[in-house]
Parts: sequence; structure tokens; C-alpha cells
Amino acid sequence: MAKVKRAYFCSSCGNEQPKWMGRCPACGEWNTFVEEVVVKESASGARSLVKSATGAGAAKPVPVREIVRDELARLDLGIGEVNRVLGGGMVPGSFILLGGEPGIGKSTLSLQIALGSHGLRTLYVSGEESPQQIKMRAERVSRAGSEDCYVYAETLLENIIAQAEALEPNLIVIDSIQTIYTEILDSSPGSVSQIRECAATLLKYAKTHDTSIIIIGHITKDGTIAGPKVLEHIVDVVLSFEGDDAGIYRILRGVKNRFGATFEIGVFEMRGEGLVEVANPSEILLGDYEEPLSGIAVGAAVDGIRPYLIETQALVSSMAYGTPQRSATGFEARRLNMLLAVLEKRAGLKLGAKDVFLNFAGGFRIADTGLDLAVAGAVISSYFDRAIAPGVALAGEIGLSGEVRPAPRSEQRIAEAARLGLKRIVVSGYLKKSLPKTLPAGLEVCYINRVDELGKYLF
Ligand code: TYD
Ligand code: MG
Repeated sequence: MAKVKRAYFCSSCGNEQPKWMGRCPACGEWNTFVEEVVVKESASGARSLVKSATGAGAAKPVPVREIVRDELARLDLGIGEVNRVLGGGMVPGSFILLGGEPGIGKSTLSLQIALGSHGLRTLYVSGEESPQQIKMRAERVSRAGSEDCYVYAETLLENIIAQAEALEPNLIVIDSIQTIYTEILDSSPGSVSQIRECAATLLKYAKTHDTSIIIIGHITKDGTIAGPKVLEHIVDVVLSFEGDDAGIYRILRGVKNRFGATFEIGVFEMRGEGLVEVANPSEILLGDYEEPLSGIAVGAAVDGIRPYLIETQALVSSMAYGTPQRSATGFEARRLNMLLAVLEKRAGLKLGAKDVFLNFAGGFRIADTGLDLAVAGAVISSYFDRAIAPGVALAGEIGLSGEVRPAPRSEQRIAEAARLGLKRIVVSGYLKKSLPKTLPAGLEVCYINRVDELGKYLF
């Protein structure tokens, strides 16, 4: 006899409770509990999809000094930016979660990986598209050397595992975890219990067969992966695919990585023929103008551990309505307001009756306080309607009393400015002592302590 079980799951963290609760005792979120009917098979009929290692073959504790660490073999996924984010290629048997908003390009990216991984047998499982649709997409993004890529439109986990066991691929893509389900549970696909159970089974498969699995997860509006947080705990790597709907650039970010640095990012451009790697983001993010324009400053930014130069654009104009408008695209509006207040008080700019608009090239979203100085530079330039001299980059954080503090990883920002042939970079005076004696040749490094000194080095 099957045992019927009803349970309530927190849709935020996956916490299970026998009755509904207004507030999750585990993660503190309100109104997240949903009821799911869970019918577990009776104990006698229970079966495991993947043979587990128990008894004689089970692993035993080993003293740490006796473990021989062999260099993890890394598989080349055929896309440099993806290899980079994974820490130099994919570790066999790794369990990867690729999250992102709908329409951002998760299916495109993972299909390109499946098609382009030379020498690997790949299985692309789609619960959302038919083989014909996948073929159409594959033709658009067509890459050579894709003979060993198999496509499978299926949503039942038991079938997927059975086909994988027959095909023995090196890499499986599951598009998406929210569409597949297992027969063991009665709840519908996409429910917390289904996602949890399917992920656990796939994890077991990946580890016992040394097959890497990429699971795609849709992200809800507030930025969390729909379904339980448990998913993020059990996977080895969490990648987040981000970008602006309107913009063509996409960033692949390593949020968690058991096999490498977490802060790596990869940059892509969405074109008609699929996602194209952008190896040198600075080169496309810097405008090329015949004549310098006012309101444009070059910021030396760092995302994670990757430096790049980005064009910062500001427009300061007389107030159009009774209250001044402040609008920032890709930058935190509160931070912009703070910077404007500092410029008003410490640099004497009369911004109270001005509209201010701020924007970054390529529709990039930036959470880097090191760009404060570039934002200030662009505002000053637009305010006086004077173009900043060509070849000037800015990197520094601005404090409430107008002091310029060092931006994190300033050395890398300076090196990137030098690599792109800029002539001058303005940084915090606090860096004078800590920067190495030998700075890149051909780049003048200017130090300022307060934001009102900025004008001296801009024009
Ligand atoms: P998709 O990979 O389906 O997104 P996700 O799986 O994250 O929901 O990408 C969908 C968008 O990408 C769609 O709006 C069309 C666009 N696109 C291109 O611009 N070029 C291409 O070659 C492909 C395949 C898609
Ligand atoms: Mg998709």
C-alpha cells in the first residue's frame, strides 16, 4: 500500500513542514509555504534509480595525509569564456546549475556547449522544445564538430536516466530542472519536492558515472532560482547568466564553484548566430569618437576579478519639471544621489535645479563602487559642457566627505588601462605608497585625495 503524504514546502528554501505556516522557520520568508501531495512508494516497493555504493564497495574514511591529490582533469567545453568561468574547463562528474531569467539565452548557451565540446559525447535533454525546434536552433548557432551530440525531448526522469545509461555521454544538459519530474512523487513538475528529488537523483548519477551534468534553472523576478535553495547547496557549481533584455551583452558569472575561483565572469554578445564570446570587453565598451564629447568618462571597472574599461555617460540639464529628475540605468540610483550631493557640497556644483541622467555603454549593470570617480567625472564634464581629454581613465570610490578612496583591485584597473593604451588614470592618493614601484610604462598615474581636485586632471 502506498503511503499518502501531504506536506508543505517553503518555496524559498525548501523547508518541509507538516502544516502550513505564515513564516518559514528556516529562512524567515513570509507566505512562501505551498502544499504538495507527496505519495511515496511503500518501503517494500521502493527502488533506487541509481545503484548506490553500499556494503563492501562503500567508501571509508581516509586520513587526509594519505590522500594523493591528482590534478583534476579538465574537459574543454569548446567555449573559452565558459572554460574560464569554470576555472579552466569542466571537471568530469561535476554537477552544474545554470540559472537565469527566461529568454536570457540559457538554452542557446547550453546547446552551443553541447554542440561544440570536441571529443565529448553530449546529451541535450529538453523538456521545453521538440527535436525540430532544437534542430532549428542548432542550425542557427551551427558549430563544427558536433557529430556526437544527441538531442532528447523528454520530461520523465526515469526515461532520461535509462537513455543516459545506454548512451553513456560525458556531458548531459537538462533544460530545465523545472520541467522534469519523477514518477516516485505525485506532485507536479516544478514543485519543490520534484525539483529536490530530481536533482538528488541526477547528482547521484553524475557522481557514480563520472558524467558531468548541467541543469538549467529559471530564475524568479526577485533573482532567486525558482524552487528550493537546496539546489544551490547540492550542486558543485552555480553559474548565473545575466544581462539586460534590451542590451545584447550577457555575463556568465560563477556564483559558487567547488573547483575554482568564484568571481570569474565570461562576457558574451547575443547575435543572430547565437552567443559570441567577447574576449576583450573593454574594446567594445569604449566608444570611438572623432571628436571628444562632453559628459563621457572612461571608468576602470572590475567585475569579480575581471577588469574592464567602460564608458560612463552623464547628462546634466536644466530641470524640465518642478522637481529634478535623477535617472540611472545600470547604476544604483541611491548611490548616484549620494554622489550628486557630495559634488554639490564639496565641489561646488549647483545640481539642485538640474536633471541628471546616467548610463553605461552596452546596457551593463554595475555594482562597483570603484566607478564613483568615473560617474563624478562624467557629471562634471556634462555640467561644464567640456569634454574630458582623450585617454583619461578614472578609478576610485568617493566617500561622504568627498574623499577619494582606493577602488578594490586598483592595480588590475591600472594594468587594464595601460593595456588599452590610455594615457592617464586618476586614482586615490592613498595608493601612492601601496602600489608597486614599477607601474606600466606610457601611463601617467595621477593621485587625488578629494573629489574637488578631480577637475585638474580631466581637461
Ligand atoms: P534562449 O536560449 O531560448 O533563452 P532561455 O533558454 O534562457 O529562456 O534565448 C532566447 C533569446 O535569444 C530569444 O529572444 C532569441 C535570442 N536568440 C538570438 O538572438 N540569436 C540566436 O541565435 C538564438 C538561438 C536566440
Ligand atoms: Mg530555454
